[in-house]
Amino acid sequence: MTFDEKLDELHRRKKESEAGGGEKRIGRQHAEGKKTARERIALLFDAGSFQELDQLVVHRSTDFGMEAQRIAGDGVVTGYGTIGGRLVYAFAQDFTVFGGSLSETHAAKIIKIMDLAMKNGAPIVGLNDSGGARIQEGVVSLGGYADIFLRNTLASGVVPQISAIMGPCAGGAVYSPAITDFILMVKKTSYMFVTGPDVIRTVTHEEVTKETLGGAETHNQISGVAHFAAESDEDCLATIRELLSFVPSNNMEDPPHAATTDDPNRVDDHLNDFIPDSPNQPYEMRDLIRTIADEDHFLEVHQHFARNLVVGFIRLNGHSVGVVANQPAFLAGVLDINASRKGARFVRFCDAFNVPLLVLEDVPGFLPGTDQEYGGIIIHGAKLLFALAEATVPKITVITRKAYGGAYCVMNSKHIRADMNYAYPTAEIAVMGAEGAVNILYKGAKDRESKIAEYKEKFANPFIAAERGYVDEIIEPRFTRRKLITAFAMLRNKRDKNPPKKHGNIPL
Ligand code: HXC
Repeated sequence: MTFDEKLDELHRRKKESEAGGGEKRIGRQHAEGKKTARERIALLFDAGSFQELDQLVVHRSTDFGMEAQRIAGDGVVTGYGTIGGRLVYAFAQDFTVFGGSLSETHAAKIIKIMDLAMKNGAPIVGLNDSGGARIQEGVVSLGGYADIFLRNTLASGVVPQISAIMGPCAGGAVYSPAITDFILMVKKTSYMFVTGPDVIRTVTHEEVTKETLGGAETHNQISGVAHFAAESDEDCLATIRELLSFVPSNNMEDPPHAATTDDPNRVDDHLNDFIPDSPNQPYEMRDLIRTIADEDHFLEVHQHFARNLVVGFIRLNGHSVGVVANQPAFLAGVLDINASRKGARFVRFCDAFNVPLLVLEDVPGFLPGTDQEYGGIIIHGAKLLFALAEATVPKITVITRKAYGGAYCVMNSKHIRADMNYAYPTAEIAVMGAEGAVNILYKGAKDRESKIAEYKEKFANPFIAAERGYVDEIIEPRFTRRKLITAFAMLRNKRDKNPPKKHGNIPL
């Protein structure tokens, strides 16, 4: 073969790989509003930066006539490139090739880039569009999944792992994402389930659609499995790019600094009237978050799940900060099982990846009732407590209004190693609200109203906590941004550690 003939052969093979499962299947993918694996990769990475590996890999299966169906690449595009100029590894499953199902060789391709990502300290992004283990291969495909799960687990807390669900994903195609840090789903085109509607019908006779069982809404609102619900493939991939801009490449680095023109000394006068006079009147905590953030920008995580707690990323003077905030506009900001799970998971991510934490507190306590007790609020609430207590990144709290009961302790109190605790003059810090307290302390008392007034006078303020040093400073709300930027700068070189151990035993 001449050099030109060899080159032609290479181009022919590459072209064959790029054709995937053929025009018809690509047409179906497009008709469903989905991009192909390669189109997704092109949108995810900086233009022209992606380097594909293993493009010519084929499966080795000979059962069920598979030897006659070998498509170069074997249903997954893998490689590396840059996102925002920083190194990232990625795989994108190609649903047009055996439904993106995972064979032994498909798994080996993913494992190769995961190992490279670990050695080189860079994030891994998985674009999942797969019917799970390749049915024709049996145990070797199951083994391939287990090899990936192991790597997902070992990479956890070492390099950020982000999973996008961009089609119908079943079996192993959902368990690998479950071990990663963030899951994004695309509305109307992506599904996650351990087993699909057909299997469910056979086993339990339950009739359920793909959408109800495991659509983006289901997993963003009800189960909390997914953290983002994107409008389209483009939106999903843009969100991944943005998410990566807030986090470091690995656990040994700090998050990247982003230049800002927003004045660190900006004073927001309107915040002095922001907290309503009545303690029962709600307000939108996200307005406060946006006001203090650089350029009003807040990337909310888990937006649709447990809306009584708000979590996400902002920047303060260019530095990435993870925000955990009670939301008085939803269930009065009460802490319940789902809010605790949501908060704990986010806090652990931030702590693992050196993202400082800001807690904005306005919480009437834990939600009482049999639903919560039977569901295990004790163990789930303890997750948030454990996560915040264990975190060694810089931790700052601002008590905007209520800090009642156990929730006071949990929400990054001084006692669990918060570095700076601020309170607005509107803060109320007590074991419980005045009415509840009087019901217990003065059961049947005739002068109930005066007792309530007395309790409020004594406890519905931040001064006792400030006198004890549990609150470092009572601040005017309009100076919040400036105070936080100054305090986080003071904490930039913070070093703290936990006692040596194999690992803690967070109440799972
Ligand atoms: C081989 C598969 C496949 C699989 C889909 N295909 N899943 N091939 N192995 N697991 C192929 C189909 O044969 C079809 O091929 C093409 O992909 C598209 O599939 P359709 O069924 O036409 O698409 P759709 O109607 O959109 O349904 C998608 C689906 C469904 C919901 C994913 O295909 C499905 O239920 N697949 C099986 C899911 C499953 O049970 N997987 C095993 C999980 S166990 P053609 O040639 O027609 O294009 C597992 C083990 C690990 O993963 C567990 C770890 C804990």
